[in-house]
Amino acid sequence: MGVRNSSDPDKIFDQHYSPEQMMRMLIGQIYPEGMEGRSFLDCACNSGGHSLAAAQMGAGRTFAFDARTHWTDQAEFLARQAGLTDMSVRCCELKDLPSLGLEPFDVTLFAGIFYHLPDPMAGLKIAADLTKELLIVNTAVLPSRRPGLVLNCESDTAVLSGVDRLAWLPTGPAVMREVLAWCGFPHMRVDLYWNYPKGNWKRLQVVAARDPKIFAAFDRLRPAAGGWKERLRIRAHMAMSRLRRQPA
Ligand SMILES: C[S@@+](CC[C@H](N)C(=O)[O-])C[C@H]1O[C@@H](n2cnc3c(N)ncnc32)[C@H](O)[C@@H]1O
Repeated sequence: MGVRNSSDPDKIFDQHYSPEQMMRMLIGQIYPEGMEGRSFLDCACNSGGHSLAAAQMGAGRTFAFDARTHWTDQAEFLARQAGLTDMSVRCCELKDLPSLGLEPFDVTLFAGIFYHLPDPMAGLKIAADLTKELLIVNTAVLPSRRPGLVLNCESDTAVLSGVDRLAWLPTGPAVMREVLAWCGFPHMRVDLYWNYPKGNWKRLQVVAARDPKIFAAFDRLRPAAGGWKERLRIRAHMAMSRLRRQPA
């Protein structure tokens, strides 16, 4: 999907370019044993790459949906070719989910959709209400010192866009933390926050849970991802260590 970002100095975008790489790196840090039969909800699944990766990591029941048949046809083809009998694909909008009577899922991927919604808070809440354990949110961001949502009206016909024209960009992780907490997922970790080829946009990937125990493995591997308190604690510790090393 799209073009590679050659302007990313850390090449992080390249590392996370493929849905399979993204899923393997992130899910592997949270669930070292893999998905172990956990059910998976893939919101705005596009051509289904993340669902395929989840299945390859041992996911169980998977529901992938997108608003456009352009994409769901491809996702269905992928599921059929890969023999994913546990995976259902549906062409529908996010707002239709509550009427489908779906059983909640263990893990939900909400990638590339938050910033295409007319009401992103209500949209994320729909996905959160169907999620038991882990919510992965990947969104474009327009950084600003004042946390908020910035109006970003878009096409409603381009195949990678939203379907309502009205859309909003969050200004950074602080906004996502508040929205996720309101959705019942108060424990958030920033996985990635990187430069985007478009203007001064950034891309943010966070994971959120109802219960912080989900992050036991992740926190051992990535202690600094735990938020500003953790980063402050580490900085203070490093400053104290430097002071202690200076001759009296
Ligand atoms: C930027 S792509 C992201 C695709 C994929 N989740 C990923 O991260 O690679 C946006 C996708 O969201 C879908 N989409 C936009 N608004 C939607 C809505 N309200 N309900 C369902 N799908 C939507 C589009 O059709 C498109 O496939």
